[in-house]
Amino acid sequence: MWAGAWVVRRFTEVGSTNTYVLERARQGVAEGLVAVAEHQTAGRGRLDRRWESPPGANLLASVLLRPRCEADDLHLCSAVVALAAADACAELAAVEPVLKWPNDLLVNGSKLAGVLAEAEFDGSRLRGVVVGIGLNVAWPGPVEAGGTCLVHVEGSKPVDKGALLDSILEKVARRRPLLDEQAGRRALADEVRRRCATIGQRVRVTMPAEEFTGVASDIDDAGHLVVDSESGRRLVGAGDVVHLRPE
Ligand code: BTN
Repeated sequence: MWAGAWVVRRFTEVGSTNTYVLERARQGVAEGLVAVAEHQTAGRGRLDRRWESPPGANLLASVLLRPRCEADDLHLCSAVVALAAADACAELAAVEPVLKWPNDLLVNGSKLAGVLAEAEFDGSRLRGVVVGIGLNVAWPGPVEAGGTCLVHVEGSKPVDKGALLDSILEKVARRRPLLDEQAGRRALADEVRRRCATIGQRVRVTMPAEEFTGVASDIDDAGHLVVDSESGRRLVGAGDVVHLRPE
């Protein structure tokens, strides 16, 4: 059982904090390793995209969790980090992001943060999961299309990146035990449902082998996105979602 003690490695520059932690996870390092960097030379996003961030501008961090849950619960592991980050932004910056399923943070419809979860498996069990977050704090100029950062949000308070990370880690540690029990995972799914802006939206869902559109109608007790598509009701556990304009 993890005691909630983080071991934080800080980098001026690294390839990718996710890659750094994932490599050590595969070597058997204990839960609680955190990597945080001022700059990544090979930052990675979901769907094999690159994650670009000017040096020193944003919070780039990855944490290693080793919960007792299944591969299918991976999106709830990243929800723990996304919810913690949303709470930390509210507490320190007076900015209240909502979630876009699976785990982006949005403010006024623009992306404030993205989360990338990468896991190693033992059959259907999760042996370890690395959850990385790129949270836009203070881009020197305009943020790339569709994005925003804390300092650009009207009424936001200035935040220190170190304090932001400390606050996120404290909130991750508080929710982390929920991942070990079914009732806890259901509580997490309930929280995602309450705070998820995707529900009610027309969406395009991209999964590894297919793409479809529909209306996101709910999040089920396991945290899957429920999408009513032309071919019927679909449960999405792993995929990327775009909010579309209403028809
Ligand atoms: C997304 O595509 O929205 C997820 C982006 C995740 C980016 C973060 S930055 C810190 C960590 N290291 C990486 O290489 N990626 C994640």
